[in-house]
Amino acid sequence: MIQSERAQLRRDEIETFFRERFTTDNPLITEAVKRMLEAGGKRLRPRITLLAAQTNDGASERHMQLAAYMELIHVATLIHDDVVDNAQTRRGVNATAIDYGNRISVLAGDYLFAWIFKNVTQFYSPPIPNILSATLAEICDGEVLQLRSLGDLNVSLQSYIDIVERKTASLFAASAQCGAIAGGAPPQAVEALRSFGLAYGIAFQMRDDLLDVTAEAAALGKPVGNDLAERKMTIPLILALRGGSREFYGMVERLYAGREPDAAAVIAGIRQSGAIEATRAKIAEYSRRAEDAIDGLENTSAKAELQRLAGELLEEAS
Ligand code: IPE
Ligand code: IPE
Ligand code: MG
Ligand code: MG
Repeated sequence: MIQSERAQLRRDEIETFFRERFTTDNPLITEAVKRMLEAGGKRLRPRITLLAAQTNDGASERHMQLAAYMELIHVATLIHDDVVDNAQTRRGVNATAIDYGNRISVLAGDYLFAWIFKNVTQFYSPPIPNILSATLAEICDGEVLQLRSLGDLNVSLQSYIDIVERKTASLFAASAQCGAIAGGAPPQAVEALRSFGLAYGIAFQMRDDLLDVTAEAAALGKPVGNDLAERKMTIPLILALRGGSREFYGMVERLYAGREPDAAAVIAGIRQSGAIEATRAKIAEYSRRAEDAIDGLENTSAKAELQRLAGELLEEAS
């Protein structure tokens, strides 16, 4: 079987799992979660779990359930994130909070986390449950740190990376690490795959931040320009402030103080400053780190596909 066929088969298996096997004891919550699953999504975290398992264990089917939990953790964080970020759309449909309200969304996310952990502790032995609970704490930590830095024009690139490591890269790292553990990979390979996930996740969030400035909402399935609207300090903005003029700094200050209603001039300023290219260079740096992290693993089609996924972050970041 060629690599692309195998990848498609894996994607189909994940979808079948969600369609036929996902249910909770609460019908309203099952419906809200299924709706988000059916709306789409790239399924990157479960793909990375399965691929990490496959670097050592060719049979991916037995890791499908673990992979599905990774996607479900992600979905629960998205339901909460859209409440926190005041986002209207997700995966091309209304955000959960738009259709069900903030109150049900908060409870649905909480319920889903609890449901996942109940199952993970029942079916998987340490350290997998420990890694997943530590990851959830890190995600919340990252989201809180991000809230604390909203509108702070002096945030450094390093603080940004610290936040991104927690809020986004930690789940990619855990997806790779837990997949590797479940697949019986030796400790060195588990560590290498975790490092892959961490670097991949940082590059992934940088790309997401770039797309918030450069993409069309229809292509993303979620709002664009929402980061500026929420006064977030994302990498294109941080780099533009670093390389930009005093005038640009003042413009961002006014926008974030609510005194300049139009973000278009700030977006134009980000473009003129060269920050789009500088962000792409950073994405390239972390994508290469991800590829290098697993370079020492035995050559398998799973390893090649992971490295291809890291390379894709560059192609799409335009
Ligand atoms: C969105 O993740 C949240 C971020 C970490 C930027 P994805 O871009 O993977 O979202 P889906 O799963 O494809 O919808
Ligand atoms: C990632 O950050 C959110 C989570 C880790 C849950 P964003 O807020 O940038 O993600 P999007 O853009 O809403 O998908
Ligand atoms: Mg968001
Ligand atoms: Mg975003």
